[in-house]
Amino acid sequence: MKQYILITGASSGIGYEMAQQLAALKYNLILTARNEDKLAAMQQELSSKYGIVIHYIAKDLSKTEQATQLFNEIQSSNYQVSHLVNNAGFGDYGNFLETSLEKELNMIDLNVSSLVILTKLFAKDMVARKSGRIMNVSSVIAYLPFPYQSVYSATKAFVLAFSQTLAAELEGTGVVITTLAPGVTETAFISPEMRETNLLKSNKLTSAKTVASKGVKLLLHGKGKKIVGFQNRFNSILAGILPDPVMMKIKMKLASAKKL
Ligand SMILES: NC(=O)c1ccc[n+]([C@@H]2O[C@H](COP(=O)([O-])OP(=O)(O)OC[C@H]3O[C@@H](n4cnc5c(N)ncnc54)[C@H](OP(=O)(O)O)[C@@H]3O)[C@@H](O)[C@H]2O)c1
Repeated sequence: MKQYILITGASSGIGYEMAQQLAALKYNLILTARNEDKLAAMQQELSSKYGIVIHYIAKDLSKTEQATQLFNEIQSSNYQVSHLVNNAGFGDYGNFLETSLEKELNMIDLNVSSLVILTKLFAKDMVARKSGRIMNVSSVIAYLPFPYQSVYSATKAFVLAFSQTLAAELEGTGVVITTLAPGVTETAFISPEMRETNLLKSNKLTSAKTVASKGVKLLLHGKGKKIVGFQNRFNSILAGILPDPVMMKIKMKLASAKKL
C-alpha cells in the first residue's frame, strides 16, 4: 500500500513550503485546505516535477464534521497516512470585546477541535500499525500568550499541552508526536493590523521556507518540540523567569500599535 504524508493548510504559507520541500524529498502527499484551485495547481506542478503521487481533498476544517469526512475519504481510498501534519490554522488581532465571536469559535474549531479529531483518528490507525508520526503546529505564542490575540494564544497553548502529553502517552507504541512552534513568520497569516504593532515593527519576520525546513526535519526525524529561532527560544525561557505582571506589561506594549 502506498504511504502518504497528509498536510493540512497546504495551500499557502508554512504548509505550502513544507509540501514543496517534502515533494523534493520524493514523499507522496495528500494536500488539504479550502482552496481547491490552489491544491489542484500544486498537484500538477509537484507530481510532474518530482514524479511522486499527490492527492488533494478540499475541506473546510473549521467545520469539524469535515475533519471526520477527510479521514473517512482517505480510508475508503486506501491511502495509508504515515505522517500527519496538523498545520491549518488562523489567528485574529483585536480587542476581545470587539472581535467577532463567530470568527473565534471557528478558530477554536479549526485550530483545536479538528486537530484533535484528526490526531485521534489517525493516531489509532498508526498505533495499530506500530508506526507513524504526527506533527502539530503550535506557536511561540503558546509560551508567551499575547494581549489582543487572546483566543488565538489559547488555541496554540492547547496544541502545545495536548501534543506534549500525547507524545508521552504514546511513547513505545512506534508513534511519535511532535510540536512545531514558529515565531512571527512572513505569510498571509499576518494581517495589516498585526503589521502595525510594535512587535512586528521591531522584529524581522522569518521566511515560511525557513520555518518549513525546521518543520520537515522535526516531522521526519525529530522528537519533542521545536521552537523556531534563537530569539524565540530565548523569549520563551524569559517568560518562565520574569514575573507574570512584568512580562504582560512588556507584551501589552509590543502588541499595541502605539509608539513605544
Ligand atoms: N505566520 C505566523 O507568524 C505563524 C506563527 C506561529 C504559528 N503559525 C501557525 O502556522 C500555521 C500555518 O499558518 P501560516 O502562517 O502558514 O498561514 P497561512 O499562509 O494563512 O496558511 C494557513 C493555511 O491554513 C489553511 N486554512 C485556513 N483556514 C482553513 C479552514 N477553515 N479549513 C481548512 N484549511 C484552512 C489555509 O488554506 P485555505 O485558505 O485554502 O483554506 C492555508 O493553507 C497555522 O497553524 C498558524 O497558526 C503561524
